[in-house]
Amino acid sequence: MEVRLAVLPGDGVGPEVTDAAVRVLEAVLDAEGRSLVVDEHLMGWTAVQQTGLPLPAETLEACLQADAVFLGAVGHPDAADAPHEQRPETGLLALRKELGCWANLRPLRVPPSLVEASAGRPERVGGTDLLILRELAGGLYYGEPRGVDGDRAWNTMVYSEGEVRRIAELACDLASGRTGRVTSVDKANVLEVSRLWRRVTQEVADARGDVQVNHMLVDRAAMEIVLNPRQFDVLLTENLFGDILSDEAAVLAGSLGVLGSASLGGRKDLYEPVHGSAPDIAGRGIANPLGSLASMALMLRYTLDLPGAAERLESALDGTLSAGIRTPDLRRAGPEEPVGTEAFTEAVLGRLETSYAMPADRAGGAE
Ligand code: NAD
Ligand code: IPM
Ligand code: MN
Repeated sequence: MEVRLAVLPGDGVGPEVTDAAVRVLEAVLDAEGRSLVVDEHLMGWTAVQQTGLPLPAETLEACLQADAVFLGAVGHPDAADAPHEQRPETGLLALRKELGCWANLRPLRVPPSLVEASAGRPERVGGTDLLILRELAGGLYYGEPRGVDGDRAWNTMVYSEGEVRRIAELACDLASGRTGRVTSVDKANVLEVSRLWRRVTQEVADARGDVQVNHMLVDRAAMEIVLNPRQFDVLLTENLFGDILSDEAAVLAGSLGVLGSASLGGRKDLYEPVHGSAPDIAGRGIANPLGSLASMALMLRYTLDLPGAAERLESALDGTLSAGIRTPDLRRAGPEEPVGTEAFTEAVLGRLETSYAMPADRAGGAE
């Protein structure tokens, strides 16, 4: 059976990590007896330069026709003074909205091979395994009214009970398949919208009874992520808090480059690494492809219903890191010379090949 993937490489390191991710997905699907059809389209600043728009209509149309969507990254320093409708980020937010994705899963594990690369203390971060569940369709990002008038500008943080309820239900569903704990993040000591968030989240958890929810103020959560990240299982956040906390949490595993994501709940599922276009390293062939490869593993699990393939890919990623192979952003993790995006990808492909040559029950470590 054929998998049709809309691929939007975007800007900066986006095309570099997309190339790695598509190669790896193709290899996995091939080994699973499925074929991949890649439908590549313009997005972000690259699209603005060629069409005047960050999300051209034909790009959106291709996404709506696909089985899933993969996005590299968008953003460019030259776009800093562009009007709102021509900003790469405006295109990304429009894409999420048009697809209807409201649940953004950002899983983070700190395997032993990355403990030394961590920005946190080894004895505190080892064994961290948390899932940031970021609400993606509401809050300040989309709230009305918004605008600017001379020397004043405004945005609105708004959530309805229904929006909170559906993400809280999902947080509980996800937690019940893990260790059964949800930490819901808010600013209920200051914001009305957070008090609604806290009340509804608690109601959802009480009605189910299978999951424990506790509430944490966002400033405290930012501290606890560094101090004691192992306390968290599912970390439930509204849109902006989740954006900020996920970059912070990522560096517990050594680099923003490692974190992948799945955006679910809409007409099509969207997969993207959490990092941006990284203009400071773009074009040098050293971007870490882990975030986009981890996103492909999520795609195998959540959209393509190939959990075994997702596990093989995740094992291949772990195996590559444990062998000391890593890009420069993770170089603190070992004495070995760092490798570039392509060499890292080749190492993953090699491990996948070995994994698929073995029976499934022995493929575990893929070493
Ligand atoms: P960034 O995520 O692009 O980079 C932050 C830091 O992390 C940089 O030092 C960068 O080199 C490093 N980094 C990021 N990805 C990496 C990778 N794969 N491998 C190694 N190092 C990596 O954030 P920024 O610099 O604040 O933003 C740059 C642009 O990206 C902005 O225009 C922003 O709006 C955009 N952005 C886009 C997305 C997205 O497309 N999903 C996400 C975040 C930021
Ligand atoms: C992310 C990014 C985006 C966001 C930007 C580029 C619009 O930072 O996906 O984390 O804020 O959602
Ligand atoms: Mn972000």
